[in-house]
Amino acid sequence: SDKIIIAIDGHSSCGKSTMAKALAQALNYTYIDTGAMYRAVTLFSLQENLWQGDILDADALCCKLPSLSISFERTEDGELHTFLNGKDVEKEIRTMEVSGHVSPVSTLGFVREAMVAQQQAMGQQKGIVMDGRDIGTTVFPQAELKVFVTARPEVRAMRRYKELQEKGDKTSFETVLANLTERDRIDSTRAISPLAKAVDARILDNSTLSIEEQNQLLLSWANEVI
Ligand code: C5P
Repeated sequence: SDKIIIAIDGHSSCGKSTMAKALAQALNYTYIDTGAMYRAVTLFSLQENLWQGDILDADALCCKLPSLSISFERTEDGELHTFLNGKDVEKEIRTMEVSGHVSPVSTLGFVREAMVAQQQAMGQQKGIVMDGRDIGTTVFPQAELKVFVTARPEVRAMRRYKELQEKGDKTSFETVLANLTERDRIDSTRAISPLAKAVDARILDNSTLSIEEQNQLLLSWANEVI
């Protein structure tokens, strides 16, 4: 049957990318991580020293944005990595430093316009699973399947905390919890395409689901639609 567009939106750190990746693999679809794109712009802003404390020089970022290119490429490990101006930045964009600066960057209209345009171009041939915050509401409002993922904040923070610990990152549980709560707050209250459940999205709360269970549920939803 025909290929469709699957939009997966939801709160921070609730395993959207894990489930989106698994679903894309099961369906032989392309997985696109839009959070990685906002993270890459944020990394760029940090590398270019556009921050003074918590304040970003948005005008300077706007001027430099045309010289920034983001792409996804499969690397030797068989995984899709995020590239910023030709350089593999997959690791750098996952640090707490970037997580702590990404939400303000994502409020900027000129950043969103550029990212959304690229995302829409990537989805033109369908057969994609795209995860983010505004995919079902703004990027692909016509997506055939929309899922809104959430879980209790403490559950999400514990999962992310363990992940960081495994990477040798010593960030405390409280800091991780504060970061994701703050990102959710900024993401849900911004003026331009805030994080919101599309009216026609199905809710997936994975607070008490194993990864296997959530993947099964998601795949069964996809198979209902395809
Ligand atoms: O998905 P991830 O947690 O990596 O996204 C990082 C940040 O990027 C989010 O907190 C949000 O501020 C921003 N984002 C967004 N729109 C998207 C995807 C991510 O604003 N479609």
